[in-house]
Amino acid sequence: METPSYVKHQRLIAWVQEVAARCKPDRVVWCDGSKEEYDTLMGEMTTSGMAIKLNEEKRPNSYLFRSDPKDVARVEDRTFICSRREQDAGPTNNWMQPDEMKKILNGLFDGCMQGRPMYVIPFCMGPLGSDISHIGIEITDSPYVVVNMHIMTRAGKAVIEHLGENGEFVPCIHSVGHPLLPGQEDVPWPCNNDEKYIVHFPEERAIMSYGSGYGGNALLGKKCFALRIASCMARDQGWLAEHMLILGVTEPSGVKTYVAAAFPSACGKTNFAMLIPPKELDGYKITTVGDDIAWIKPGDDGKLYAINPEAGFFGVAPGTSYDSNPNAMESIKHDSIFTNVALTPDGDVWWEGMTEETPPELTDWNGNPWTAGCGRPSSHPNSRFTAPLANCPCADPAYEDPKGVPLEAFIFGGRRSSTVPLVMQAYNWNYGVYLAATMGSETTAAATGAVGNVRRDPFAMLPFIGYHMGDYWSHWMDVGRSISNPPRIFGVNWFRKDKDGQYVWPGFGDNMRILKWIVDKVHGRTYAEESPLGWVPRYEDIDWTGLDFTEDEFDEIMSVDRAIWEAEILSHEELFIKLYDRLPKEFMMIRQLTLSQLWRAPEHWEPTHVTAPYVK
Ligand code: OXD
Ligand code: MN
Repeated sequence: METPSYVKHQRLIAWVQEVAARCKPDRVVWCDGSKEEYDTLMGEMTTSGMAIKLNEEKRPNSYLFRSDPKDVARVEDRTFICSRREQDAGPTNNWMQPDEMKKILNGLFDGCMQGRPMYVIPFCMGPLGSDISHIGIEITDSPYVVVNMHIMTRAGKAVIEHLGENGEFVPCIHSVGHPLLPGQEDVPWPCNNDEKYIVHFPEERAIMSYGSGYGGNALLGKKCFALRIASCMARDQGWLAEHMLILGVTEPSGVKTYVAAAFPSACGKTNFAMLIPPKELDGYKITTVGDDIAWIKPGDDGKLYAINPEAGFFGVAPGTSYDSNPNAMESIKHDSIFTNVALTPDGDVWWEGMTEETPPELTDWNGNPWTAGCGRPSSHPNSRFTAPLANCPCADPAYEDPKGVPLEAFIFGGRRSSTVPLVMQAYNWNYGVYLAATMGSETTAAATGAVGNVRRDPFAMLPFIGYHMGDYWSHWMDVGRSISNPPRIFGVNWFRKDKDGQYVWPGFGDNMRILKWIVDKVHGRTYAEESPLGWVPRYEDIDWTGLDFTEDEFDEIMSVDRAIWEAEILSHEELFIKLYDRLPKEFMMIRQLTLSQLWRAPEHWEPTHVTAPYVK
């Protein structure tokens, strides 16, 4: 295809030509983002066997894809941050010298698109025209990537027009790494199982990805651009690119409060973003701006404003049901893409946990016959749905607002069976940064008391930060210093267990009760008591209407044990030592202060063991 006449950007045209000369595709296709383009590609992929069209009555305009069984998730050990200096990538990232990496990649990309079209996808992360948004161009040989980018980003001709003759864009090159030589048959899911590279060049603001067609390895707008490269842009330009959901809380009075929240994977982030309050609190309504990523910039009024750079959900399917997340189920009713889930005999999709009853027979994610009780899961644990945000019944209208939404609170959550209380508010911004920096999840279900097996996942950003983690924490400190009306910072933990190893907190919709306290707290409408770790609600500060949750149970999951916290603080040290050369100096003092607070409080602290008066 000729370069379309609406493309006026000479640097972009030259780059596309250069990539085509290296990759040697059959032809170059400039994607316009239209519905015709989407339908044509889906038609071609259905004919070739890559896509399966689902039953039009049950799941209109929706398709199932099955990946290669070895290409099913992000590949963190093949993900590189190629900054010029190794110390700028930091010890939590894989690094290679950029020229050395380019030599390898240029070799791999040479001729890698033979026998395939090369698609050029212009996309905007965030509403087009927002001064928080940024533009990328993804070159790919995967039509699956094109249709997913249609849903997950604002993609197409309008982006090119917005770029004009000289606009800035992040160049993103992707290949599945599976050239088709003359006469060679294609496979349903081309990829390269020998070599995979997901590579970021932070100074150049460029991305190159080779060998995988799956998720965050291939949809380069998501983790690669919106988190790894954007975190570097944010550091340099004074904003934040975060692995956070954004939601709005509307109270019965009509007052609306926006919060952003970070949770490591498998902590119910999408469910929280689309929470349905229990019926006793049904005057409250939650609306969703985003479920995965937030770009956050200081506004003129000293507040932070957030946009969701994405336009869709790329959610984990297993466990999603009308019980756990009705809004997600409604979002995927039509115009959706499913990857690696099971197919029902009548042409619909199913996965573990979708319904109480398991269908007797299915075709599993590998395309093999499957029967209930056969001992294998029907869907891959990391199987996904791709659905437009516009499908979501609780989509917040402001998700399209170029100004973004003003944030009143940040919430950081981990998965800890002991240690971290159900909810607390950090004493101040710097404490909040410390809290977020040390958050973690237990990798195995430790019963009670143990601190072991904690995977530290600072800010839920461990696999997504594009530079040195210590610098990232300092950047957060700097942003806090630079704004006059910062969001308040809270920690939550829905996962405390009792002595028998049972979860104490019901979670799901009942998380609204905690969110209500948080909202009341940021507006100065409720009180908090000083615990050794932060400000916490008393039992009577939480709305318990309709839930039988005793004060003893509350005390149990709010308690702070000095001995457990001594071990916890020592284990923070393990992380800090790794990052010592760039650790914010405040962290050492916060650690000391926390220790002194633990020693000032009783050995086993519970709410109403007041250590200081209540404050607003
Ligand atoms: C995701 C992740 O897929 O965080 O969103 O891994
Ligand atoms: Mn994520």
